[in-house]
Amino acid sequence: MISNKYIVIDFDSTFTKVEAFDALADISLKDHPQRAAIKKQIEDLTNQGMDGSLSFRESLKQRLALLSPNQQHLEQLVVVLRGMVSESFKRNKSFFEEYNGRIYIISNGFHAFIDPIVTEFGVKKENIFANKFHFNDKGEVIGFDEDNPLSANNGKVEQLKRLNLPGDVYVIGDGYTDYEIKHSGLANKFFAFTENVERGNVLSKADHITPSLDEFLYLNNLNTAISYPKNRINVLLLESVHPAAVKLMKEEGFNVEVYPAGLTEEELCEKIANVSILGIRSKTQVTAKVLDCANRLMAIGAFCIGTNQIDLDAAAKKGIAVFNAPYSNTRSVVELAIAEIIMLMRNLPDKFAKMHLGQWEKSASNSFEIRGKNLGIVGYGSIGSQLSVLAESLGMKVFYYDTEEKLALGNATKCKSLKELLQIADVVSLHVDGRPSNQHMIGPEEFKLMKKGVILLNLSRGHIVDVKALKENILNGHVAGSGADVFEYEPISNAEEFVSELRGLPNTILTPHIGGSTLEAQENIAHFVPGKLMDYINTGSTSQSVNFPNLVLPILENAHRLIHIHNNVPGVLAKINATLANNGINIAGQYLKTTEHIGYVITDINKDYDRELIKEMRSIEHTIKFRVLY
Ligand code: NAI
Repeated sequence: MISNKYIVIDFDSTFTKVEAFDALADISLKDHPQRAAIKKQIEDLTNQGMDGSLSFRESLKQRLALLSPNQQHLEQLVVVLRGMVSESFKRNKSFFEEYNGRIYIISNGFHAFIDPIVTEFGVKKENIFANKFHFNDKGEVIGFDEDNPLSANNGKVEQLKRLNLPGDVYVIGDGYTDYEIKHSGLANKFFAFTENVERGNVLSKADHITPSLDEFLYLNNLNTAISYPKNRINVLLLESVHPAAVKLMKEEGFNVEVYPAGLTEEELCEKIANVSILGIRSKTQVTAKVLDCANRLMAIGAFCIGTNQIDLDAAAKKGIAVFNAPYSNTRSVVELAIAEIIMLMRNLPDKFAKMHLGQWEKSASNSFEIRGKNLGIVGYGSIGSQLSVLAESLGMKVFYYDTEEKLALGNATKCKSLKELLQIADVVSLHVDGRPSNQHMIGPEEFKLMKKGVILLNLSRGHIVDVKALKENILNGHVAGSGADVFEYEPISNAEEFVSELRGLPNTILTPHIGGSTLEAQENIAHFVPGKLMDYINTGSTSQSVNFPNLVLPILENAHRLIHIHNNVPGVLAKINATLANNGINIAGQYLKTTEHIGYVITDINKDYDRELIKEMRSIEHTIKFRVLY
């Protein structure tokens, strides 16, 4: 299909991320005292050359006089430009090698810095058209070949005319001069390249806007190296996901759509058909019905801690990996716990209330330091163990109990049973997870075991404490203070009234599930979740996915990676390997992990393969999803 096509590519801001003259100015004017003023003059001259108030050749002449470059500067420029090749060009080096007979670089720039860069990609020297510098014997630039059409207005058009290419011409570039080739009738299509700059007057003229070379290759069925253009991967971010996350996803090249609110099941069903990556917070319910409509969905990012709002099993069965941010707000919860321990030990909630009523009760009764007191931490996971470290540094004696074997941090003491912990603690802080068996794990019997005057904190999950029993024990004075951030039933929105037996109780701190709600935690989440999503898309890594087998993979080098997700039934791996063997493909590395529902197999192969193989892999019985990374 390429046999009758010629691809004409611009250099500045297309092949490289920058305009070469800007980079040259940074080099040749480096130590010049009037550097800023000269750069401004150069910019004005560039604009005059473009808007026609000065001929392009005259503008070029005057700019060069201001830059006064020499051989050495140009050598440095080549080094700089080599590091500034557009990312999608670097990714697709094999395209240039494979089609070099049909690729032309046509630029108003200069051979001296274009040739070394593009020939490294395999572009043929005779297919590069640009201007030539004239040097004096000291190696200083004293002019250029003024007969060259490329130093004149409409130069690219004139150059194309002279080339008289015998087939379709496709032009890729970011500037108006690139569009002019199409306008003159010498090119069949103009692809506006927007990876580095976007120029409004060019975009409106383009046949296609190509945010990267990947898109151009995909559109023309020429992709030799990349799997799928990232700009075709639609990302939908709901519920005002933090701007840092939006920025990261955009920088990755995804096509990102952002929504301030959540969506109802019905709205989401409608919207999700074209979405490949969904980002939500805690309000959006991703039900089995929503997932049924999500035929392109590859991954869901929960920009929060909990994942109850997502039907994780249904997602796994559809081959959709779910990621969350389990540790991003650990520190925030710990800090709130520390604050509450101090406040409750000093009886501050009651004191605050009285002061607001105008009552001055200066007294030390029922006020204690936390130093030297016993803190009993139930659940020594991420939060419990970090609380252990901070509390100890404030002088508390830390005891902990966990059903799993957990290493004691610092000088903390492990308790053999919950009973042992409850009997010894002055403060009990609950940090277990919300598994159903933890329902009411603190009830009437447990309160009986606690010391009189104990302080109880629950910043974990509402159903863990029997609130009736807690209320009784606060009212009868057995519990001296309590902090609750989580409740068995929590209002769905800020408009709903908070109803709880704990309202109005003495020395009781009630907070609306904000233990982890700090701006720092939000920002941590905003970095963590996109990182996981991109890793999954780019490498297949499922590390810390909440519903997929967790595989941490080596970096892919000089190989193709085949990613196969299937129902976990016996024999699929054997079929995958038989298919590869039948196609004469040698396996460079293979990784397999399964969960109850799905099997996840990564196979790295280092040989080119036929597109037929992809079809065969997809048609293996029990395949849920299959994709290839290059
Ligand atoms: P984690 O999973 O790292 O730790 C939980 C620990 O509890 C594990 O070590 C587990 O073995 C242990 N455990 C479970 N059941 C137990 C039992 N019956 N007895 C003793 N140990 C038991 O969880 P992480 O991240 O430390 O979170 C702890 C809790 O805090 C969770 O319930 C989580 O939902 C909640 N949380 C609350 C936030 C808030 O805003 N208030 C924010 C973040 C988490």
